[in-house]
Amino acid sequence: MKLGVCYYPEHWPEAMWAEDAKRMAEIGISQVRIGEFAWSRIEPKPGVFEWGWLDRAIETLHQAGLHIVLGTPTATPPKWLIDAHPDILALDAHGRPRHFGSRRHYCFSSLTYRAQCARIVEALARRYGTHPAIASWQTDNEYGCHDTIISYSNAAREGFRAWLAAKYPSIQALNQAWGNVFWSMEYLSFDEIDPPVETVTEANPAHRQDWARFASDEVAAFDCVQTEILRAHSPGRDVLHNYMGMFTAFDHFKLSEQLDVAAWDSYPLGFLEQAWWPDAIKERFLRQGHPDFTAFHHDLYRGVGRGRWQVIEQQPGPVNWAPWNPAPLPGMVRAWTWEALAHGAECVSYFRWRQAPFAQEQMHAGLLRPDSEEAEAAGEARQVAAELAAVAGATTTKAPVALLFDYEAIWANQIQPQGRDYRGLELLIHFYSAARRLGLSVDIVHPSSDLGGYQLILCPLQIFWPEDLNARIKASGAVCVLGPRAGSKTDDFQIPANLAPGLAQDLIPLVVNRVESLRPGHVEQAGAFKVTRWLEHIQSELVPEASTANGHGIWYHTDKVDYLACWPDAELLDAVLRRRCEELGLATLSLPDGLRLRQRGAFLFAINYEAEPVRLSDHMVDAEKFDYVIGGPDLPAAGVAAWRIK
Ligand code: GAL
Repeated sequence: MKLGVCYYPEHWPEAMWAEDAKRMAEIGISQVRIGEFAWSRIEPKPGVFEWGWLDRAIETLHQAGLHIVLGTPTATPPKWLIDAHPDILALDAHGRPRHFGSRRHYCFSSLTYRAQCARIVEALARRYGTHPAIASWQTDNEYGCHDTIISYSNAAREGFRAWLAAKYPSIQALNQAWGNVFWSMEYLSFDEIDPPVETVTEANPAHRQDWARFASDEVAAFDCVQTEILRAHSPGRDVLHNYMGMFTAFDHFKLSEQLDVAAWDSYPLGFLEQAWWPDAIKERFLRQGHPDFTAFHHDLYRGVGRGRWQVIEQQPGPVNWAPWNPAPLPGMVRAWTWEALAHGAECVSYFRWRQAPFAQEQMHAGLLRPDSEEAEAAGEARQVAAELAAVAGATTTKAPVALLFDYEAIWANQIQPQGRDYRGLELLIHFYSAARRLGLSVDIVHPSSDLGGYQLILCPLQIFWPEDLNARIKASGAVCVLGPRAGSKTDDFQIPANLAPGLAQDLIPLVVNRVESLRPGHVEQAGAFKVTRWLEHIQSELVPEASTANGHGIWYHTDKVDYLACWPDAELLDAVLRRRCEELGLATLSLPDGLRLRQRGAFLFAINYEAEPVRLSDHMVDAEKFDYVIGGPDLPAAGVAAWRIK
């Protein structure tokens, strides 16, 4: 467990570097990420490399005992490169280029750009690949940030056609799979197919799903160019990429197969503002962030990284990019840091070292103010650094609960929400919150991953149902909770011949006869539970555990499987999970929304997201007697406690 920081030596006079490095080390920081936007300084003119400054920057950081994550600068191709090769730019839905003047102005499918990336990455890797200070590489920066996955360029169109031709044995097979007889959408050849854009009304969902799959594969292919070069010239170093929160436009599990470590950029307050929560929740957690949102992403990226992950950008104060940008509660930066470490992060790295007085992010806080005085977060980082030894050696173990996360299902749901507010990510986090309120630790895993060892498997949004999933669920011996829409599409985006839940009918004997989505404000009472947004009409011999007043069962239960035939409210999720945990002998709590627990090895951590103090003894028996290594049973606002589990 260690702390890091993101640093831009090219933003500051060289005379400041040594002092900066010394102060980083003094705070307790050991990792520093540099370089990811520095192309115009590394290669100011075509083929003219200026290595001197970067050599000296790396040496200065090295001398201070810091190890370096070196970013490849491919998120920011310089002006001369764009002018020489305008086909690097992505094209928007109207075919207009997305111009130079900020960042991420490139098309993933541009072969010109891939060649240019290979050139700059190889130059960097040859120069620094075996430098003792270089511990890892970061490819590019935040693939997809600023809505940049999709480009309607010629290269993308050609790439899509080739991708389809490789996937389908013939154009007839594609027509059949997509159902192109509908509205005379049939094609005679792969070369006739365009991206699904600017059609009169919605394009065929199967066409869109394949386009989403293709776009996702393009990101991985783009990354692979760099990853292979780095592996060749920088042996023994980790390669990582920094993913984002609330971002699902490519399959991170797939891309991460070629990486060593998954990193992500955690901005709890910015995300709270941008997300779907009602105003009352945004107000309550204004300076803390939503208690489950950040943790959900920690668990997701631990899964994506096959256990190896870090937070490589941690919000240190107000950011500049959300609609409103409040300051964290005093202590909250420390609490966020501990939350990440509790979930198994190898490193938490603050973005950024010093607030820049110029350009787009001048309103974004750093550990230092623009005048080099410490900002609030510096002291909190220093405190965490001093506390790290208390939980040294804690390794992450398998959680009792697995939550299946499938990017393809999220795309399918976006393509065909059927009800405007059926938000896949929200539903996934809704299930996750229910488990966290019970005090459970959760692993978030891909449906193809090894399910052995889990006691409870949650499938909130498993729209596609892999052929072998039933067998793997059964073999795990776990109990399984299926959310609505489970198994409701074949891989070709068709309704299964046996209707939803398709292949999952082998797990629970029921059929979804029809579904209805419900406008905001409409509630169907089902005993103690309230159904909103979505209701399925089920046909089954099973007697439902709960039904609406109109007699539609919303909760079906067998010895091993629960099926929820609606958008469940928190009470329904609570009832389902609590009952299962009792049967499984899993201890549960009833945590208030602002208090969360997470186990890391022999330690249990508690984080208080409330702006008020919380007493652990109000929620946990014997909390006064725990063997505390950080904090104690009374948590102040933004407080942290950790104790050794008996
Ligand atoms: C991230 C990005 C950083 C910086 C930061 C500001 O999305 O990777 O470069 O822009 O946001 O919060």
